[in-house]
Amino acid sequence: MNPLIEMSGCSFAYEPGKTVLERVSARLAPGELLGIVGPNGCGKSTLLRLLAGVLRPISGHVRIADKEAASLSQLQRARTVGFLPQTVNPIFAMRVLDAVCLGRFPHVGAFGTLSPHDRAVADRCLTETETESLRDRDFLSLSGGERQRVLLASVLAQEPRALLLDEPTSSLDVHHQIEIFALLRDLRSAERGIAVVTHDINLAGRFCDRIVLLGQSARGVVAEGSPVDVLTEPLLSKAYGAQIRVCQHPLTGTPLITVDAPAESKR
Ligand SMILES: Nc1ncnc2c1ncn2[C@@H]1O[C@H](COP(=O)(O)OP(=O)(O)O)[C@@H](O)[C@H]1O
Ligand SMILES: [Mg+2]
Repeated sequence: MNPLIEMSGCSFAYEPGKTVLERVSARLAPGELLGIVGPNGCGKSTLLRLLAGVLRPISGHVRIADKEAASLSQLQRARTVGFLPQTVNPIFAMRVLDAVCLGRFPHVGAFGTLSPHDRAVADRCLTETETESLRDRDFLSLSGGERQRVLLASVLAQEPRALLLDEPTSSLDVHHQIEIFALLRDLRSAERGIAVVTHDINLAGRFCDRIVLLGQSARGVVAEGSPVDVLTEPLLSKAYGAQIRVCQHPLTGTPLITVDAPAESKR
């Protein structure tokens, strides 16, 4: 099946001469949960913004549903791609339900009137993210973790075929982190693919179908493939520039990663 998003040979720099990504190729296919991992500042968010069509590459191509990303309007992109950035700072008060309904914007008509179907989708997304009890709360009154789940509900309400999420579990407790990853795994389907940037390599290894590992000084992809093929000591150590140990998760058998503290690595 054709990928939902295909990026080929893309380079990007925010400032002239400071290349963040160099000739990077990546794709998101329907049916997969793709994990994008790597050390701080290596370009994970940049890669996700390029895949979302929010940033344009200096060279190379990004195709969304077989169309050149640069040729699509914001609304056209939003019908295929749901993008949740790393930080969202709303500046005005809004009821949680209204924030989730905002996610319907690519589907509502010219006057922005919500149909019963739009409201049903919003209700379903609140249920899926376990935020129904928050529906009448003011978004600004929520905790960081509650906000993240509501934002996920909002982007889900867009019903995108490609869902791109930048660290959606970063301020969640461990229980909700696992719940969100399990939910994302359930949400992938024959039509829908999901890419998630995360700094939690263990969760990525446990839940993702495929991993893209970016490197500290690689300006791009160090390795790409299944979690067991990518999350290995040599590849992770190269990507992170640190001595990484990999063992097996006692319950799931998936890669379990730990890093030596400076004193330990000298032993
Ligand atoms: N808006 C920006 N302007 C200038 N430099 C940026 C901007 N956003 C990110 N960068 C730089 O680009 C590099 C990659 O950043 P980013 O993609 O956010 O990394 P990651 O998500 O892996 O932490 C970093 O060196 C960062 O400082
Ligand atoms: Mg980032």
